[in-house]
Amino acid sequence: MAETIRRGAGQGARALPATGELADQRGRRLTDLRVSVTDRCNFRCVYCMPREIFGRDYAFLPRAELLTFEEIERVVLAGMRLGVRKVRLTGGEPLLRKGIEELVAMLAALRTPDGQRLDLALTTNGSALAAKAEALAEAGLNRVTVSVDSLDDETFRRMNDVDFPLQRVLDGLEAARGAGLGPVKVNMVVKRGQNDDDVLPMAEHFRGSGCVLRFIEYMDVGTTNGWRLEEVVPSSEVLARIAAVHPLEPIAPTAPGETATRWRYRDGTGEIGVISSVTQPFCSGCTRARLSTDGRLYTCLFADHGTDLRALLRSGSDDDGLTAAMAGVWSRREDRYSELRASSTPSSGRSAADRDGHRIEMSYIGG
Ligand code: GTP
Ligand code: 5AD
Ligand code: SF4
Ligand code: SF4
Repeated sequence: MAETIRRGAGQGARALPATGELADQRGRRLTDLRVSVTDRCNFRCVYCMPREIFGRDYAFLPRAELLTFEEIERVVLAGMRLGVRKVRLTGGEPLLRKGIEELVAMLAALRTPDGQRLDLALTTNGSALAAKAEALAEAGLNRVTVSVDSLDDETFRRMNDVDFPLQRVLDGLEAARGAGLGPVKVNMVVKRGQNDDDVLPMAEHFRGSGCVLRFIEYMDVGTTNGWRLEEVVPSSEVLARIAAVHPLEPIAPTAPGETATRWRYRDGTGEIGVISSVTQPFCSGCTRARLSTDGRLYTCLFADHGTDLRALLRSGSDDDGLTAAMAGVWSRREDRYSELRASSTPSSGRSAADRDGHRIEMSYIGG
C-alpha cells in the first residue's frame, strides 16, 4: 500500500499518498517549510524592518491577501507528501496573527506516513510570549526560538527601535521554558558597532541555563536594511571572543543542512551555535522552502521570485494539483545565493550575486 500523510481523525480525516523521492537540481531534498503567517511586526529591528522604510504609511498586506489557516494547512500537507517533516512559523512576528494557536493545533494534528508528528517550531521576538506560551504548548507547538540581541536594556531598545523593554522578552522566554517549549533557542544577530560588545555577556548569561544561544551573522537579506560587509561580525571572531574565556569544542550537527554550526563548552555547561550565512554559507545542504504570507512559494531566502500557490488554492486546484506544482518548483530549484555571494562579494557593498536588487524582505518571506 502507498504511504499516506494523514490529516485529522474520525469524520473528515483524509489520507493522501506520499510521492516518491524528490530532489532539486543539486540533489537536495525538501524537508523543511518555513511559513510566514504575517508580514507585520511590533518591532522595527534595525537589521530587518528599519523604521525609515516601515513607517506609518507602509502598506502591509490587507487581510484578504493572507493565506487562511485552511490554506496554510493544505500547503503543509502537500509539502509533507513531498518530504517536509519540519515546519517553522515565522513572520513578521507570528504571535501577532490572530488565532495563531488554532493554526498550531491544525498543524500539530497532521501525521507522517509512519505516524510521526511534524517538528513544529516558531521564531518570535518574545514580546507576547509571556501571555501566549501556555496556549501554544497546549495547542501542540514543540519549541520556540526567541530573538534577543542584547542583555543591555538600552542597546536592546535601540535595536528593536520601538523602545521595547528587555525584561518583558526575558519574561516571555521564561514562560516558554515553563510551558515546556524547549529546549528554547535564543537568536542574536550580531551587528558591528551596535551589539558586538554584548557577545560575551550573552554567552555568559545563557551558559548553563539550558537555552541554546545562536549568534547570527548580519545578512544582506531584502533591500532596505542598508547592509554593509563591514558591519558583519564573522562567526570566527564571535567564537574566538568566547573561547578566550570559556574554551569551546565543536559538536556534530543534529541534522544535515542545519543553519547553525554547534559548539559546546568544554566544562560541560551547555552548547552554542553560530549561523554563518555570510562567511561560511550552508547552501549545499539547504532543504528549506518558504511560504510567504500571501501564499508564494520561495526556494531561497534571497529569492526575487516566488510561485503563487494562493492562485492555485483559490482557483479550485485539488491536493494532487497543489502537490504537483510544489514538486515542479522544487525539482527545478538551483538556488545557492549565499555561496554565490561569498565568491563574489566585494570588500564592501552588495555582491554581484545580487543582480537586480529586487529581493524580497525577510518579514514577508519569513526568516
Ligand atoms: P532550527 O530548526 O532550530 O535549526 O532553526 P533555524 O536555525 O532553522 O531557524 P531560525 O528561525 O532560528 O533561523 C536562524 C537564522 O538563520 C535566521 O537569521 C534565519 O534567517 C537564518 N536562516 C534560516 N534558514 C536559512 C537559510 O536557508 N539560508 C540562510 N542564508 N539563512 C537562513
Ligand atoms: N540578518 C540576520 N538575521 C536576521 N534576522 C532578521 N533579519 C536578519 C538579518 N538581516 C533574524 C531575526 C530572527 C531570525 C528569524 O532572523 O533576528 O532571529
Ligand atoms: Fe520583527 Fe523579527 Fe524583523 Fe525584528 S527581526 S523586525 S522582531 S520580524
Ligand atoms: Fe538555502 Fe538560499 Fe539560504 Fe543558501 S542562501 S542556505 S540556498 S535559503
